[in-house]
Amino acid sequence: MPVPTILWENNALRLIDQTLLPEEYIQIDCKDTPTVAEAIKSLRVRGAPAIGVSAAYGVVIAAQEAIASGKDFDTHVKDSIQTLSQTRPTAVNLFWALEIMEEVLNSTAGQLPEKRREVLLTKAHEIFEEDKRVCRKIGKNGATLLDQKATILTHCNAGGLATADYGTALAVVYAAVEAGKNVAVYADETRPLLQGSRLTAWELHQSGVDVTVICDNMAATVLRQKNIDCIVVGSDRIAANGDVANKIGTYGLAILAREHNVPFYVAAPLSTIDMNLSSGDAIPIEERNPDEVSHGMGRQTAPEGVKIYNPAFDVTPKHLVSAIITEQGVAKGNYEQTFKDWFAKT
Ligand code: MRU
Repeated sequence: MPVPTILWENNALRLIDQTLLPEEYIQIDCKDTPTVAEAIKSLRVRGAPAIGVSAAYGVVIAAQEAIASGKDFDTHVKDSIQTLSQTRPTAVNLFWALEIMEEVLNSTAGQLPEKRREVLLTKAHEIFEEDKRVCRKIGKNGATLLDQKATILTHCNAGGLATADYGTALAVVYAAVEAGKNVAVYADETRPLLQGSRLTAWELHQSGVDVTVICDNMAATVLRQKNIDCIVVGSDRIAANGDVANKIGTYGLAILAREHNVPFYVAAPLSTIDMNLSSGDAIPIEERNPDEVSHGMGRQTAPEGVKIYNPAFDVTPKHLVSAIITEQGVAKGNYEQTFKDWFAKT
């Protein structure tokens, strides 16, 4: 990544305000838990792994608040975990990280608040550093699927901006480029919030990777005309059977990939796999404010008073997924068993 997505600085969480990119590059300091929660909810920080890491630091901030205010430590930190957990429902990494932090909170019961805050901070740093390592491994594993010359189509932003560093889907691109491969990327703009054109194109361009932005409705034509070798996307939650939730529009791309005989790859850390859900039907799908559709481009883009449907994610059934790339390796079919084997090893 050309710039750090998440930083812990002066006892605060420093984030790039991603709602302002690519026009403005502005970092914000989140010094209290409502600010962290607002940043996640309004997509100042977004992308499943980045949400998880930010929430972990949010718990440290809650600990600091308890110390500064003299509030009951456990009550305040637990209330804050609850607040953070209510920001976005789909990315399981949020709940994964909060659960880890709550375990640390519980395991330090009885110790001095300052000490507990220190242990929580150490754990948040671990989650952050682990995400960096995991993204590198995903990149390395995924790059083996690409030929020396590859043209990729991607959707939304599953890059360094969506993780602690380097990304998941874009990690595959970065790792392939670092391995000397010649990679070009088509980035779907990703309506309604344009994470593809605003963020994916921004970070790939900053990194010197060949990137072309297309509107979402151009994907079929690009697949027919442009010799796309594969589609690579990230994920917000993968069910135990291999069904994949990702940014709305991903499912349509998977269908297009099948029609055009193009492999459809999903790159994600194990922390995105939810073994508690047997299929994608159980994945909670966030519905966002209708204004994102009706006032999408800084102006009114739908008539006043019409009904709007704005699901932020969709579920791609496992049979349309050619492979799932993780830090543990690449699963091709029989996802349920492969996931079980991977988790047994960790
Ligand atoms: O609504 P967003 O921008 O948080 O959605 C992000 C995505 O859908 C990403 O593809 C996913 O979180 C994977 S990020 C490595």
